[in-house]
Amino acid sequence: MATPARLAVEPGLGEVLVTAEDLQRRVAELGEQISRDYEARPPRPLLLVGVLKGAVFFLSDLMRFIDIPVEVDFMAVASYGSATDSSGVVRILKDLDASIEDRDVLIVEDIVDSGLTLQYLLRNLGSRNPRTLEVCALLTKPDRRKVDLPTRYVGFEIPDRFVVGYGLDHAERHRNLPFVAALES
Ligand code: IMP
Ligand code: MG
Repeated sequence: MATPARLAVEPGLGEVLVTAEDLQRRVAELGEQISRDYEARPPRPLLLVGVLKGAVFFLSDLMRFIDIPVEVDFMAVASYGSATDSSGVVRILKDLDASIEDRDVLIVEDIVDSGLTLQYLLRNLGSRNPRTLEVCALLTKPDRRKVDLPTRYVGFEIPDRFVVGYGLDHAERHRNLPFVAALES
């Protein structure tokens, strides 16, 4: 595994939970699955809604494995709460650029933890009358879930650990790691 050197220079990192190779393989599979599922959905292209900032890395890799027409838009949300626990009270920092009415919308998220952020997003975007609204999350922590949500596409189920890398941060650090690692407490 080509990671120990990287672990050594970023203090505070624990074990690697998802390697760079596993990420690339799974992201390719998800891209192929999404391409098949949305292939016959006229008239407008699938709209990928990336949730800033964490999902940017996943979204940009995922898009390259989707071989049907897609458009992309972004939302930024802040979830009130402590550094590691969201409260479910969500504030929109950046809204979508365009209407999603009658569109096939796929929310692309980095991780579903309690599920409260995603629950808010599903309600908020759902009220804008998209034609379909689904979720693609790279990671999920089932043990932490507080609300039951329909997540159509999931990359990996991980244990109840705080993780960083491949877009995920702790106080804005470690997003640039090419793998997902647990943060040592
Ligand atoms: P939720 O509302 O509890 O599901 O939290 C969702 C958001 O919290 C995610 O979009 C992440 O930004 C952040 N988050 C949750 N767990 C982690 C983690 O293990 N590492 C980094 N960010 C996390
Ligand atoms: Mg996030």
